[in-house]
Amino acid sequence: MAPQGLASALLASLLATSLTAGTVDAALLDVPAPKNYVRRALARATVLNNHVYIEGGQITQFEDGSRSVRGRVENQVNSTLSIPLNQSWKSESVAIRAIPKPFESLARNRWYLWTDAKEGAFYAWGGYWPFGLGMVTDEVYKFTADNQGGGEWGVETLANGLRLDQLSPGEAGAVTSTGKLGIVIGGQATPWTQLGRENTRQLSGMVTFDFESKALMNGTQRFSPFGNTPVVGASAEFISGVGDNGIVMVMGGHVGRTDKEVPVGEMDFFEMRNVTFFDPVTKEAWSQITTGDVPVSPRMGFCTAAFSTKEGGHEIFVFGGHNERDKLAYEDAYVLSLPGFVWTKLPTPPGGRRAYQTCVAVGNRQVLSVGGRGNEGEIMIADEIPQGLLLFDMTSMEWKLEYDAKTAAYESANAIKEWYKKRYLFSSMHGAKRAFAN
Ligand SMILES: *[C@@H]1O[C@H](CO)[C@@H](O)[C@H](O)[C@H]1NC(C)=O
Ligand SMILES: *[C@@H]1O[C@H](CO)[C@@H](O)[C@H](O)[C@H]1NC(C)=O
Ligand SMILES: *[C@@H]1O[C@H](CO)[C@@H](O)[C@H](O)[C@H]1NC(C)=O
Ligand SMILES: *[C@@H]1O[C@H](CO)[C@@H](O)[C@H](O)[C@H]1NC(C)=O
Repeated sequence: MAPQGLASALLASLLATSLTAGTVDAALLDVPAPKNYVRRALARATVLNNHVYIEGGQITQFEDGSRSVRGRVENQVNSTLSIPLNQSWKSESVAIRAIPKPFESLARNRWYLWTDAKEGAFYAWGGYWPFGLGMVTDEVYKFTADNQGGGEWGVETLANGLRLDQLSPGEAGAVTSTGKLGIVIGGQATPWTQLGRENTRQLSGMVTFDFESKALMNGTQRFSPFGNTPVVGASAEFISGVGDNGIVMVMGGHVGRTDKEVPVGEMDFFEMRNVTFFDPVTKEAWSQITTGDVPVSPRMGFCTAAFSTKEGGHEIFVFGGHNERDKLAYEDAYVLSLPGFVWTKLPTPPGGRRAYQTCVAVGNRQVLSVGGRGNEGEIMIADEIPQGLLLFDMTSMEWKLEYDAKTAAYESANAIKEWYKKRYLFSSMHGAKRAFAN
């Protein structure tokens, strides 16, 4: 265990013995000992300077040495967490570092994180305060990582132009970063996403944040790939190396309403079969019908991670998620391969149904999935996956409970290579042809 982990564990046990029942919340940990870990959900992760950073979300943990859940079930995580990627580790024993934050009220669920890997920084905006507790005025925050798994928080000064008070911060938008630009498509604004807000509305348009100029933009026509249709709960993934500017693939989610409050489960939804993608610079958009083992819809709250081969193929890993219409979480995972636009179903993930986890591509060809739960109440059911850290090797197509810092470069799995051998690449493509032609 890292020294600071040990110190906080000691402090926690001191507090636990000196506090009376009813105030046990103060002794909760953002990183409980692996044996006390129950569930982490609704966090976001990104990779900076060879470390995974995990931001926000909530944690459920056992009372030390017993199997009863300690404190309020949905306790927000108050520090930024990090895990090194420069060395191999096992899910059951890796030490997760907790970095305290200098601001109050920076503990939120489902933050929008925009990653500027070149700068070693991420920006944080949006997300929601659980129960609407301790809300503050909207800001764009910046976390700058050091090389040791630590870093510093600050408030970003925005360029003149669109001001934060002209935007509706929301949650459940489709978020990605292109290296130059942070993107959020749609989402929904609720009384828990913005101080003083009284209603819930799904958002149309797309917000971009320019890492260099620090300018925020929001456009609908000829800007968002969905025009002025509100989109809630979709996922986006940037793929570099396609066309001049790369493309952003968008999948899943629901068609929102701007006129009245409707539960997400009652809204129309986007079929996983039909993916939309766009050029983040020109904003030109296409849609494409996919084939193969198409994931069931509706689907939101799933996680994605992208991998590219040196031959110019791209694969997007898609894991789990929630069906709001039928109130069930999925226990499945897929790979969408481009340019074939074909889905391949992966072996059933261990650990059961999983939604509202967060995924990152790590160590050449592995996915790290952090946290997640089944239905809402399952936040109280201990995760079979130690510390909620589940890995997947994209080339061998195997689930793992350890991270390998020395894997070879990414290559498509054999099942995917076989598919391309058997088919003419562009035979099933229409609109997508042009984007992938160069
Ligand atoms: C985070 O801080 C809040 C407010 O002080 C507290 O209620 C909550 O228990 C803390 N979370 C953890 C995991 O300690
Ligand atoms: C990996 O980075 C950590 C800092 O997060 C450092 O303490 C450790 O020594 C490094 N390990 C190797 C094998 O370089
Ligand atoms: C972006 O603009 C559209 C159209 O004016 C508006 O409905 C939407 O709420 C805006 N998005 C955000 C995040 O403010
Ligand atoms: C696919 O989705 C796009 C964007 O929502 C839509 O314009 C298009 O009509 C859909 N295509 C089919 C075949 O459903």
